[in-house]
Amino acid sequence: MTSAVVAPLLVCAVPTETERIDVTAVRALFPIFQKRSSYLFFDNASTTQKPASVVESIQDYYGVNCSNAGRSSYRLSSQAALGIENSRRKVAELINARPEDLVFTSGATESLNTVALAWGLNNLGDGDQVMVCFQDHKSAVLPWLNLQRILRGLGKSIEIVPFEIHDVGDYDLRTIREGVSGRTRLIAMSHIHHVYGMDMEVKDIREIVGPDVAISLDASQSVGHIPVDTKALDVDFLSFSGHKMFAGNGTGVLWVNERRQKEIAPVKVGGMGINLESTPWQTGELRELLEAGTPNIASILSMAPAAQFILDTGVERIASHLSGLTRYLYDKLKDLPGIEFGPGPGRCGCPGGYGIISFRVEEISVSDLGFLLDSEDILVRTGDHCVSKANSEDQYVRVSLQIYNTEAEIDTFVDVLNENLFEG
Ligand SMILES: Cc1ncc(COP(=O)(O)O)c(C=O)c1O
Repeated sequence: MTSAVVAPLLVCAVPTETERIDVTAVRALFPIFQKRSSYLFFDNASTTQKPASVVESIQDYYGVNCSNAGRSSYRLSSQAALGIENSRRKVAELINARPEDLVFTSGATESLNTVALAWGLNNLGDGDQVMVCFQDHKSAVLPWLNLQRILRGLGKSIEIVPFEIHDVGDYDLRTIREGVSGRTRLIAMSHIHHVYGMDMEVKDIREIVGPDVAISLDASQSVGHIPVDTKALDVDFLSFSGHKMFAGNGTGVLWVNERRQKEIAPVKVGGMGINLESTPWQTGELRELLEAGTPNIASILSMAPAAQFILDTGVERIASHLSGLTRYLYDKLKDLPGIEFGPGPGRCGCPGGYGIISFRVEEISVSDLGFLLDSEDILVRTGDHCVSKANSEDQYVRVSLQIYNTEAEIDTFVDVLNENLFEG
């Protein structure tokens, strides 16, 4: 991490004048909060809780509608296939995309690996460069190191060019400017950082790398948090998880910009997949290229009610709620004795954020603090958070908030910290 250069003019999300959310009504939609009313769930960047509509959709599939999708002529099978296409349309609506430009995967990790294997393996040659940031999530970085290994076995050498993050938590654009070259073919980046909770400035990065370098954007922490618009973003690949946007586990999305679709080759082939004789593959065949085999039908079906929940709540209102909560949390934490904020809203002085703050306190290791909080029914993430080159410096408690979290919960959290660490 480069600490010498201070990032210019950071502008984290500031609460806008959107209509306020009725959090009590939102919480009532989530069965877990009726059953575990004492729980403070502050680990939403790992996975979100599920609204009743999502739980019911999964129960409905396994309880009364279980069948493989589109493989057979009976009605249940066609219904499952139609349901998957309904989910595709809903998710497409959420990210302002065409349904045919996105495929379902098993999660963001599979989506990000698919970019490396379906695009990278097919398009990168000797001497080509890929830029990654080792402070990003492993799932965004390691697929490129793995591809480098695979290509080495094929006698080709690609170069991985690292870029850095400022001390305040956004990318150090200078290191991108210095790293990009005529051989750069792709840059892998986060949309909102999963530990630092910063918007990583994709527009600036597009300007620096120019129109020809592919951008693979890890949107795991932005979809369902802020408006994500594929038409405005100007990226080539967009990856995210279903389970971090209120849907069932084992589902993710990979959106591929139309301009890149002719460059995609299948990674896995088999049932319902592409016919290998039909090369060259055409745009519009993404599903056949990348969705071979029986998918996680129940969870994919649950993507429709999950996306609908976000659309009905209003993603701007979610963003505004999260920004206000981030500010509130920062204001409450900042006066605790011995607190050390990680990069992000705790250091950048921004008036808002995206629901994520990481910190540690002098008195106690982060894992012990995690256990202590768990004993009070407060669920946070601790550790190095899957940062790909983490060291002891990267150990933080991460609080990650969602639409159902409240200022009152934050008050309780800070009271628990005060009572257990600083009083008596
Ligand atoms: C930024 C980011 N990328 C990728 C992933 C991997 O997501 P999944 O485990 O759903 O594949 C995560 C999960 O924590 C994440 O936060």
